[in-house]
Amino acid sequence: MSAPNKSYDPVEVEALKPEEIERMRDEALAAFAAADTLDALQEAKVAHTGGTSPLALANREIGALPPQAKAEAGKRVGMARGAVSKALAARQAELEAERDARVLVEEAVDVTLPHDRTPAGARHPLTTFMERVADVFVAMGYEVAEGPEVEAEWFNFDALNFTPDHPARQMQDTFFVQGPQGADAGGESGVVLRTHTSPVQARALLERREPPVYIVCPGRVYRTDELDATHTPVFHQIELLAVDEGLTMADLKGTLDHMVQALFGADMKTRLRPNYFPFTEPSAEMDMVCYVCRGESVGNPDRPCRTCGSEGWIELGGCGMVNPKVLTACGVDPQKYSGFAFGFGIERMLMFRHNVEDMRDMVEGDVRFTRPFGMEI
Ligand code: PHE
Repeated sequence: MSAPNKSYDPVEVEALKPEEIERMRDEALAAFAAADTLDALQEAKVAHTGGTSPLALANREIGALPPQAKAEAGKRVGMARGAVSKALAARQAELEAERDARVLVEEAVDVTLPHDRTPAGARHPLTTFMERVADVFVAMGYEVAEGPEVEAEWFNFDALNFTPDHPARQMQDTFFVQGPQGADAGGESGVVLRTHTSPVQARALLERREPPVYIVCPGRVYRTDELDATHTPVFHQIELLAVDEGLTMADLKGTLDHMVQALFGADMKTRLRPNYFPFTEPSAEMDMVCYVCRGESVGNPDRPCRTCGSEGWIELGGCGMVNPKVLTACGVDPQKYSGFAFGFGIERMLMFRHNVEDMRDMVEGDVRFTRPFGMEI
């Protein structure tokens, strides 16, 4: 290593000449003053104070000077760097203050402005209630199944053991979309708007082939009824179908009881009354204890109940053990498997659950009806 050069004069070193240092300092100050955003200032900071900036490079030159020259050069460079970092901090503070002032203006909220008067949309209480019912069964391991609303007559009737002359096929119940097609129009199926969700039973059995089958089917159904306080031509049903080895009517009853308890309270129960459906055998009408009076209006004229007409029971819908003929039509061996099914109207259930007196309120879409149910999305 060579000894420091005694005749080394900082004034002779280009980068350390006083006017050079001044020029570097002035350029830095000008760059900071010209930076009109914090980003631009950041760039100027790197260019004028960073490791490769002219002043930093000049600073490095000092180390090579002879001792007697170091002090003066160091002072000169140090003063320049001090001035630069002071100017940088000042400009930084200025630009930050400007930004803060701007953000305050841009993000200001005028709390005196009128609020958004368009209410948020929400789902219809029928939809949310239908899902709640389906969830009771999903929690028990049932699968949700769906079928078309425009349905083949075969699925809606024939597969469910409705004979061709069954009264339910008559015009007063069924919307016919298309008559039987084909030359002889004999064996071919027509098309209807499904009158119940039971065709999904047949579809599920045919699709799945081998039981066990446990499905719940919520959906829209159609009947040629006039719209009045207790009827609507478009309504909703929930259908349940379980097919497995060894299912009995006791399983049906237990499932129904569980459902009404889950939906209406732990002390609810159901009862079955004999009935007839072509696709279940035996068939029953299912009732549940009146949700409102819990049976206390029966024989008690002082406490009449409008919901159940003081009967103590409310009719829910139909049920029964799946008719072996239906199992056979759907390719399931009735010797090996048995099943139960039930179906009921959602509108009716929502009506007595919430004391809705007129079914028309449910279809007219007036928010004054739906709002009290809450705003479930
Ligand atoms: N589908 C029948 C109806 O609409 C109800 C039902 C379903 C009956 C399942 C028995 C079994 O009235």
